[in-house]
Amino acid sequence: MRAAGPSLPRNDPRQYDDLAGEWWRPDGAFAMLHWLARARAALVPPATRPGALLVDLGCGAGLLAPHLTGKGYRHVGVDLTRSALAQAVAHGVTAVNGDATAVPLADGCADVVAAGELLEHVPDWRAAVAEACRLLRPGGLLVLDTLNDTALCRLVAVHLAERLPTVPRGIHDPRLFVDDRELLAECARHGVDLSVRGIRPGVPGLLRWLTHRALGGVTTSDRAPRIVPTGSTAVLYQGRGLRNG
Ligand SMILES: C[S@@+](CC[C@H](N)C(=O)[O-])C[C@H]1O[C@@H](n2cnc3c(N)ncnc32)[C@H](O)[C@@H]1O
Repeated sequence: MRAAGPSLPRNDPRQYDDLAGEWWRPDGAFAMLHWLARARAALVPPATRPGALLVDLGCGAGLLAPHLTGKGYRHVGVDLTRSALAQAVAHGVTAVNGDATAVPLADGCADVVAAGELLEHVPDWRAAVAEACRLLRPGGLLVLDTLNDTALCRLVAVHLAERLPTVPRGIHDPRLFVDDRELLAECARHGVDLSVRGIRPGVPGLLRWLTHRALGGVTTSDRAPRIVPTGSTAVLYQGRGLRNG
């Protein structure tokens, strides 16, 4: 196994194979993805019909799955990384190994499409947005979170966050970060009326979590910092929108 991060180019998907053992560790390198998955799932209402489908683009190891329990969706996850998909399957996700820019699922099949921390990893994020919108049925819901294409985001998400134990080093290529206004325009072009808001981990919870972890304590999901809204979309932001028609 390679040392994660520095031995591979930024955003190289093989990093997820090297980090496969980290996905489900609540205090592991993907800890923040757990916090974000809970916040994303909170945007998803219970299904309104039997057999409703939620397509999770770039699902990774299926961290969204526990937060959807009881909401009534079939959870289909699409991801490039087989080692992550194998873990998603173990958490009840139906896996599709493929690219979010060319998803082998029918137009309008999804009641909900989720794209959590995906777009900032896709060289052609516009193609992934087009696919997300294509998959949604009229009235279907798109939920996503991603990183903004700003100098502040490059400072916070790359230079600062990648020094913390909650974000793997080298996982982000800041050249791929997604301008929120361009994302809104792209969604509108594909019939989804997206609204966005800035989000961040709550500071007291984050400091408690980092201290507890540094002291060697066991971190559990009930100790996880909450993701809270913030006044600016300049770093991390969440989007929610319905497909017209
Ligand atoms: C930061 S992880 C987020 C995983 C998951 N959404 C979560 O929040 O836990 C990004 C995921 O996107 C996947 N990915 C990156 N580019 C992709 C693409 N073009 N198509 C499908 N999956 C992709 C990676 O394999 C990885 O599992």
